[in-house]
Amino acid sequence: MTDGASFGGRRIYLLVGAVGAGKGTQADILSERLGLPHLASGDLFRRATREGTPLGEKAKGYMERGELVPDDVTIAMFMEELSKPEAARGAILDGFPRTVGQARALDATLAGQGEGISRVLYIEVPPEDLVERVSGRWVCPTDGTPYHLVTDPPRVPGICDKDGMPLIQRDDDKPEVVRARLAQQVPPMLEVIAHYEQAGKVSRVDGRGTIDEVTGRILDALGLGQAVS
Ligand code: AP5
Repeated sequence: MTDGASFGGRRIYLLVGAVGAGKGTQADILSERLGLPHLASGDLFRRATREGTPLGEKAKGYMERGELVPDDVTIAMFMEELSKPEAARGAILDGFPRTVGQARALDATLAGQGEGISRVLYIEVPPEDLVERVSGRWVCPTDGTPYHLVTDPPRVPGICDKDGMPLIQRDDDKPEVVRARLAQQVPPMLEVIAHYEQAGKVSRVDGRGTIDEVTGRILDALGLGQAVS
Protein backbone atom coordinates (compact mmCIF):
# COMPACT_ATOMS: atom_id res chain seq x y z
CA MET A 1 0.00 0.00 0.00
CA THR A 2 1.27 3.48 -0.82
CA ASP A 3 0.11 6.88 0.35
CA GLY A 4 -0.86 8.26 -3.09
CA ALA A 5 1.49 11.16 -2.43
CA SER A 6 2.06 12.00 -6.07
CA PHE A 7 -1.59 12.74 -6.86
CA GLY A 8 -2.12 16.45 -7.39
CA GLY A 9 1.02 17.51 -5.51
CA ARG A 10 -0.37 18.04 -2.02
CA ARG A 11 -0.50 15.18 0.47
CA ILE A 12 -3.87 15.17 2.23
CA TYR A 13 -4.37 12.50 4.89
CA LEU A 14 -7.61 12.04 6.81
CA LEU A 15 -7.62 10.61 10.31
CA VAL A 16 -11.05 9.16 11.10
CA GLY A 17 -12.21 7.50 14.30
CA ALA A 18 -14.73 7.72 17.13
CA VAL A 19 -14.35 10.05 20.10
CA GLY A 20 -11.13 9.19 21.92
CA ALA A 21 -9.80 6.84 19.21
CA GLY A 22 -6.47 8.67 19.18
CA LYS A 23 -6.87 10.92 16.13
CA GLY A 24 -5.33 13.98 17.81
CA THR A 25 -2.52 11.96 19.38
CA GLN A 26 -1.55 10.33 16.09
CA ALA A 27 -2.07 13.49 14.03
CA ASP A 28 0.46 15.34 16.23
CA ILE A 29 3.03 12.58 15.70
CA LEU A 30 2.42 12.34 11.93
CA SER A 31 2.54 16.11 11.62
CA GLU A 32 6.02 16.17 13.12
CA ARG A 33 7.28 13.17 11.17
CA LEU A 34 5.88 14.20 7.79
CA GLY A 35 6.36 17.95 8.18
CA LEU A 36 2.69 18.65 7.44
CA PRO A 37 0.31 20.83 9.47
CA HIS A 38 -2.23 19.16 11.75
CA LEU A 39 -5.67 20.66 11.13
CA ALA A 40 -8.19 19.60 13.79
CA SER A 41 -11.79 20.73 13.44
CA GLY A 42 -12.45 20.35 17.18
CA ASP A 43 -9.39 22.48 18.06
CA LEU A 44 -10.44 25.15 15.55
CA PHE A 45 -13.95 25.27 17.03
CA ARG A 46 -12.62 25.39 20.62
CA ARG A 47 -10.26 28.24 19.74
CA ALA A 48 -13.08 30.18 18.06
CA THR A 49 -15.28 29.60 21.11
CA ARG A 50 -12.56 30.80 23.51
CA GLU A 51 -12.00 33.90 21.40
CA GLY A 52 -15.76 34.57 21.18
CA THR A 53 -15.78 34.87 17.37
CA PRO A 54 -19.08 34.53 15.42
CA LEU A 55 -17.94 31.04 14.37
CA GLY A 56 -17.29 30.12 18.00
CA GLU A 57 -20.72 31.42 19.06
CA LYS A 58 -22.36 29.26 16.37
CA ALA A 59 -20.40 26.12 17.31
CA LYS A 60 -20.61 26.39 21.11
CA GLY A 61 -24.10 24.96 21.78
CA TYR A 62 -23.65 22.04 19.41
CA MET A 63 -20.35 21.07 21.03
CA GLU A 64 -21.78 21.32 24.54
CA ARG A 65 -24.57 18.93 23.55
CA GLY A 66 -22.17 16.54 21.80
CA GLU A 67 -23.81 17.23 18.43
CA LEU A 68 -22.15 17.89 15.11
CA VAL A 69 -21.81 21.54 14.12
CA PRO A 70 -23.87 22.13 10.90
CA ASP A 71 -22.11 21.31 7.64
CA ASP A 72 -22.23 24.81 6.14
CA VAL A 73 -20.34 26.34 9.08
CA THR A 74 -17.84 23.50 9.28
CA ILE A 75 -17.11 23.29 5.56
CA ALA A 76 -16.48 27.03 5.26
CA MET A 77 -14.10 26.98 8.23
CA PHE A 78 -12.13 24.02 6.98
CA MET A 79 -11.82 25.15 3.37
CA GLU A 80 -10.35 28.41 4.62
CA GLU A 81 -7.73 26.47 6.62
CA LEU A 82 -6.83 24.34 3.61
CA SER A 83 -6.34 27.40 1.44
CA LYS A 84 -3.71 28.92 3.77
CA PRO A 85 -0.02 28.91 2.73
CA GLU A 86 0.80 26.60 5.68
CA ALA A 87 -1.14 23.85 3.89
CA ALA A 88 0.59 24.38 0.53
CA ARG A 89 2.40 21.00 0.78
CA GLY A 90 -0.55 19.18 2.28
CA ALA A 91 -2.11 18.53 5.68
CA ILE A 92 -3.27 15.97 8.18
CA LEU A 93 -6.99 16.40 8.70
CA ASP A 94 -8.25 15.35 12.14
CA GLY A 95 -12.02 15.30 12.63
CA PHE A 96 -12.99 16.54 9.17
CA PRO A 97 -14.87 15.37 7.17
CA ARG A 98 -17.38 13.87 9.60
CA THR A 99 -20.43 13.65 7.33
CA VAL A 100 -20.83 12.58 3.71
CA GLY A 101 -21.83 16.17 2.91
CA GLN A 102 -18.49 17.40 4.28
CA ALA A 103 -16.65 14.64 2.42
CA ARG A 104 -18.28 15.56 -0.88
CA ALA A 105 -17.49 19.25 -0.37
CA LEU A 106 -13.86 18.41 0.38
CA ASP A 107 -13.60 16.06 -2.62
CA ALA A 108 -15.11 18.71 -4.92
CA THR A 109 -12.77 21.45 -3.70
CA LEU A 110 -9.71 19.25 -4.13
CA ALA A 111 -10.88 17.95 -7.53
CA GLY A 112 -11.31 21.57 -8.67
CA GLN A 113 -7.60 22.01 -8.03
CA GLY A 114 -6.61 18.72 -9.67
CA GLU A 115 -6.07 17.16 -6.25
CA GLY A 116 -7.53 14.38 -4.16
CA ILE A 117 -7.31 12.66 -0.81
CA SER A 118 -4.05 10.71 -0.47
CA ARG A 119 -5.30 8.26 2.15
CA VAL A 120 -8.01 7.84 4.79
CA LEU A 121 -6.75 6.24 8.01
CA TYR A 122 -9.61 4.76 10.01
CA ILE A 123 -8.47 4.18 13.61
CA GLU A 124 -10.64 1.45 15.13
CA VAL A 125 -10.93 1.09 18.92
CA PRO A 126 -13.58 -0.88 20.90
CA PRO A 127 -16.16 1.33 22.69
CA GLU A 128 -15.11 0.23 26.21
CA ASP A 129 -11.54 1.47 25.58
CA LEU A 130 -12.84 4.80 24.26
CA VAL A 131 -14.58 5.70 27.50
CA GLU A 132 -11.46 4.86 29.53
CA ARG A 133 -9.25 6.93 27.26
CA VAL A 134 -11.48 10.00 27.34
CA SER A 135 -12.00 9.88 31.10
CA GLY A 136 -8.22 10.07 31.67
CA ARG A 137 -7.57 12.79 29.10
CA TRP A 138 -6.12 16.22 29.92
CA VAL A 139 -5.31 18.69 27.16
CA CYS A 140 -3.22 21.79 26.59
CA PRO A 141 -5.51 24.84 26.46
CA THR A 142 -3.29 26.46 23.81
CA ASP A 143 -3.34 23.90 21.01
CA GLY A 144 -5.29 20.92 22.33
CA THR A 145 -2.28 18.57 22.67
CA PRO A 146 -3.78 15.53 24.44
CA TYR A 147 -2.25 13.66 27.39
CA HIS A 148 -3.55 10.74 29.43
CA LEU A 149 -3.10 10.34 33.18
CA VAL A 150 -1.93 6.73 32.79
CA THR A 151 -0.98 5.96 29.18
CA ASP A 152 0.55 9.25 28.05
CA PRO A 153 1.35 11.49 31.05
CA PRO A 154 3.19 14.81 30.63
CA ARG A 155 6.80 14.98 31.92
CA VAL A 156 5.69 17.31 34.76
CA PRO A 157 2.26 16.36 36.17
CA GLY A 158 -0.47 18.76 35.01
CA ILE A 159 1.83 20.79 32.72
CA CYS A 160 2.07 20.75 28.89
CA ASP A 161 5.45 19.44 27.66
CA LYS A 162 5.41 21.86 24.72
CA ASP A 163 4.57 25.26 26.22
CA GLY A 164 4.39 24.82 30.00
CA MET A 165 0.68 25.70 30.22
CA PRO A 166 -1.41 24.08 33.00
CA LEU A 167 -3.48 21.28 31.44
CA ILE A 168 -7.28 21.32 31.53
CA GLN A 169 -10.11 18.84 31.05
CA ARG A 170 -12.48 19.45 28.12
CA ASP A 171 -16.09 20.37 28.92
CA ASP A 172 -17.35 17.82 26.40
CA ASP A 173 -15.46 14.98 28.10
CA LYS A 174 -18.16 14.73 30.78
CA PRO A 175 -19.55 11.16 30.64
CA GLU A 176 -23.04 12.19 29.48
CA VAL A 177 -21.62 14.33 26.65
CA VAL A 178 -19.20 11.55 25.63
CA ARG A 179 -22.17 9.16 25.38
CA ALA A 180 -24.05 11.69 23.22
CA ARG A 181 -20.98 12.18 21.00
CA LEU A 182 -20.64 8.44 20.46
CA ALA A 183 -24.36 7.92 19.78
CA GLN A 184 -24.72 10.85 17.40
CA GLN A 185 -21.39 10.93 15.65
CA VAL A 186 -20.52 7.28 14.98
CA PRO A 187 -23.29 6.64 12.37
CA PRO A 188 -22.30 9.56 10.10
CA MET A 189 -18.63 8.62 10.58
CA LEU A 190 -19.37 5.12 9.25
CA GLU A 191 -21.04 6.70 6.21
CA VAL A 192 -17.87 8.71 5.58
CA ILE A 193 -15.83 5.51 5.76
CA ALA A 194 -18.21 3.80 3.30
CA HIS A 195 -17.93 6.82 0.97
CA TYR A 196 -14.13 6.59 0.83
CA GLU A 197 -14.12 2.78 0.75
CA GLN A 198 -16.01 3.00 -2.53
CA ALA A 199 -13.09 5.06 -3.82
CA GLY A 200 -10.57 2.53 -2.44
CA LYS A 201 -8.99 5.15 -0.18
CA VAL A 202 -9.41 3.62 3.29
CA SER A 203 -6.79 1.87 5.42
CA ARG A 204 -8.24 0.37 8.59
CA VAL A 205 -5.79 0.67 11.49
CA ASP A 206 -6.12 -1.25 14.78
CA GLY A 207 -6.08 1.56 17.37
CA ARG A 208 -5.46 -0.72 20.38
CA GLY A 209 -2.06 -1.11 22.00
CA THR A 210 0.48 1.59 22.78
CA ILE A 211 0.64 4.93 21.00
CA ASP A 212 3.92 3.85 19.32
CA GLU A 213 2.36 0.62 18.10
CA VAL A 214 -0.54 2.51 16.52
CA THR A 215 1.89 4.98 14.89
CA GLY A 216 3.83 2.03 13.46
CA ARG A 217 0.65 0.58 11.94
CA ILE A 218 -0.27 3.93 10.41
CA LEU A 219 3.17 4.37 8.86
CA ASP A 220 2.99 0.81 7.52
CA ALA A 221 -0.43 1.56 6.03
CA LEU A 222 1.07 4.57 4.27
CA GLY A 223 4.08 2.60 3.09
CA LEU A 224 6.24 5.07 5.00
CA GLY A 225 7.47 2.96 7.90
CA GLN A 226 11.09 2.75 6.82
CA ALA A 227 11.25 6.15 5.19
CA VAL A 228 10.58 8.41 8.16
CA SER A 229 11.16 6.42 11.35
P1 AP5 B 1 -13.13 16.75 18.42
O1 AP5 B 1 -12.26 17.59 19.23
O2 AP5 B 1 -12.66 16.37 17.06
O3 AP5 B 1 -13.52 15.47 19.25
P2 AP5 B 1 -13.60 13.90 18.85
O4 AP5 B 1 -13.66 13.49 17.46
O5 AP5 B 1 -14.75 13.43 19.64
O6 AP5 B 1 -12.24 13.38 19.16
P3 AP5 B 1 -11.43 13.56 20.45
O7 AP5 B 1 -10.60 14.81 20.35
O8 AP5 B 1 -12.36 13.45 21.63
O9 AP5 B 1 -10.54 12.25 20.43
P4 AP5 B 1 -9.27 11.83 19.58
O10 AP5 B 1 -9.66 10.74 18.63
O11 AP5 B 1 -8.57 13.01 18.99
O12 AP5 B 1 -8.42 11.17 20.72
P5 AP5 B 1 -7.10 11.66 21.48
O13 AP5 B 1 -5.91 11.58 20.58
O14 AP5 B 1 -7.35 12.94 22.20
O15 AP5 B 1 -14.54 17.46 18.23
C1 AP5 B 1 -15.20 18.08 19.33
C2 AP5 B 1 -16.58 18.57 18.88
O16 AP5 B 1 -16.45 19.55 17.83
C3 AP5 B 1 -17.50 17.50 18.29
O17 AP5 B 1 -18.17 16.80 19.31
C4 AP5 B 1 -18.44 18.36 17.43
O18 AP5 B 1 -19.41 19.00 18.21
C5 AP5 B 1 -17.51 19.43 16.87
N1 AP5 B 1 -16.91 19.03 15.58
C6 AP5 B 1 -15.59 18.71 15.36
N2 AP5 B 1 -15.40 18.41 14.06
C7 AP5 B 1 -16.60 18.53 13.44
C8 AP5 B 1 -17.03 18.34 12.10
N3 AP5 B 1 -16.19 17.97 11.11
N4 AP5 B 1 -18.35 18.55 11.81
C9 AP5 B 1 -19.21 18.94 12.76
N5 AP5 B 1 -18.87 19.13 14.07
C10 AP5 B 1 -17.57 18.93 14.40
O19 AP5 B 1 -6.94 10.46 22.54
C11 AP5 B 1 -7.88 10.30 23.59
C12 AP5 B 1 -7.14 9.96 24.90
O20 AP5 B 1 -6.55 8.66 24.78
C13 AP5 B 1 -5.97 10.92 25.22
O21 AP5 B 1 -5.94 11.11 26.61
C14 AP5 B 1 -4.72 10.17 24.73
O22 AP5 B 1 -3.58 10.53 25.50
C15 AP5 B 1 -5.12 8.71 24.93
N6 AP5 B 1 -4.57 7.80 23.94
C16 AP5 B 1 -4.40 8.05 22.61
N7 AP5 B 1 -3.90 6.95 21.99
C17 AP5 B 1 -3.78 5.99 22.95
C18 AP5 B 1 -3.35 4.61 22.94
N8 AP5 B 1 -2.91 4.00 21.80
N9 AP5 B 1 -3.38 3.93 24.10
C19 AP5 B 1 -3.80 4.51 25.25
N10 AP5 B 1 -4.21 5.80 25.33
C20 AP5 B 1 -4.22 6.53 24.19
